[in-house]
Amino acid sequence: CDILCIVGARPNFMKIAPVMRALQAQGIPARLVHTGQHYDAEMNERFFADLGIPHPDINLEVGSASHAVQTAEVMRRFEPVVDELQPRAVLVVGDVNSTIACALVAAKKGVGVIHVEAGLRSYDRAMPEEINRVLTDQISDLLFTTERHAEANLAREGIDTGRVHFVGNVMIDTLRHNLERAVPWQEALAAAGVDLTPFQRAGGYGAVTLHRPSNVDEPAVLRRVTETLIGVSRDLPLVFPVHPRTRARLEAFGLLPALASEPRIALLPPAGYLEMLGLMRDARVVLTDSGGMQEETTALGVPCITLRENTERPITLDEGTNVLVGNDPGRILAAFNEVLGGGGKQGRVPDYWDGRAAERIVEVLADWLAREQPAAAG
Ligand code: UD1
Repeated sequence: CDILCIVGARPNFMKIAPVMRALQAQGIPARLVHTGQHYDAEMNERFFADLGIPHPDINLEVGSASHAVQTAEVMRRFEPVVDELQPRAVLVVGDVNSTIACALVAAKKGVGVIHVEAGLRSYDRAMPEEINRVLTDQISDLLFTTERHAEANLAREGIDTGRVHFVGNVMIDTLRHNLERAVPWQEALAAAGVDLTPFQRAGGYGAVTLHRPSNVDEPAVLRRVTETLIGVSRDLPLVFPVHPRTRARLEAFGLLPALASEPRIALLPPAGYLEMLGLMRDARVVLTDSGGMQEETTALGVPCITLRENTERPITLDEGTNVLVGNDPGRILAAFNEVLGGGGKQGRVPDYWDGRAAERIVEVLADWLAREQPAAAG
């Protein structure tokens, strides 16, 4: 095939969907490899169904492991796939372990590497994703960026700007494509068996997601965050779809019973794409440590309070509805009170977050394929 597309973990799925659609529309032969980094039905199959992503041609079934083992397993299992399919380029999205693993295999084989969502930097190397971003960009032949800061970041790292194309945000393509199908929040709660009364009485809710090691891996930190959420819920009920990693930590630290017994906090299993989109769209405020949700809330115009000290997506601060507060209770509460008092950020939708990023990518790709020599056989 011409292009071998890679997905591994939940945040990849919404990025690959519009790219595959656009490749197909242009008649560019593409295949899909799933590394199996995320494997639970709730983290995985539901997204393929919700987003209409074609069934992966190959699943490497790597599963969970330490970063080194997971990355190595993807590489080990991906290499024979490249040998067999002989793609002209491997297309990776985002910043998960599968992204760098597959990019590295392709680069070492002299196969082109295409990185969608290139150039984002938190400048925090304690984040595993930051390492994945820096390294993937260094070995990419074509880099597609979502916001203007990204090009400057890449130039600073010595990457030839001739390879870099500002095309906009494919995740927002997916958001626009699916917004009308988003599941109303009442339905998501009812499906999870949650009593709607406190939510209806309050006339609104906040949506919460947490999964970053910096927030959930330390008992003292997670306890503080949990207590803060319980405090916030006195003013506004919260809907909290819980990532498997976070659920495991809450259980291990003995924090789950207190959260689960709060009538104004609805703990849900990890939400599907259309449920999460509905939960964000209809929320008064979103509290999160996700990368993608900082952008999705900016596109939706919903205030976002990010429980991180930094972001690789600064356009959401400059132009969007995002504020960074870390995990200090005082700062979280101050930001929350500001939103409830009507002082939340208004924001605008950044350039090229218009639902057409994947089309722009495929236009550039078609040119690039026409210019590059086909991969040598053998
Ligand atoms: C990964 C990504 C992160 C992304 C996040 C979204 C990397 C380095 N990190 O982090 O960028 O924001 O996915 O979810 O690639 N687990 C399950 N079922 C699954 C997947 C994971 O139970 O389907 C559990 C595993 O036991 C594991 C934990 O969740 O211990 C963490 O999963 P993992 O994929 O290692 O990293 P994430 O924290 O999800």
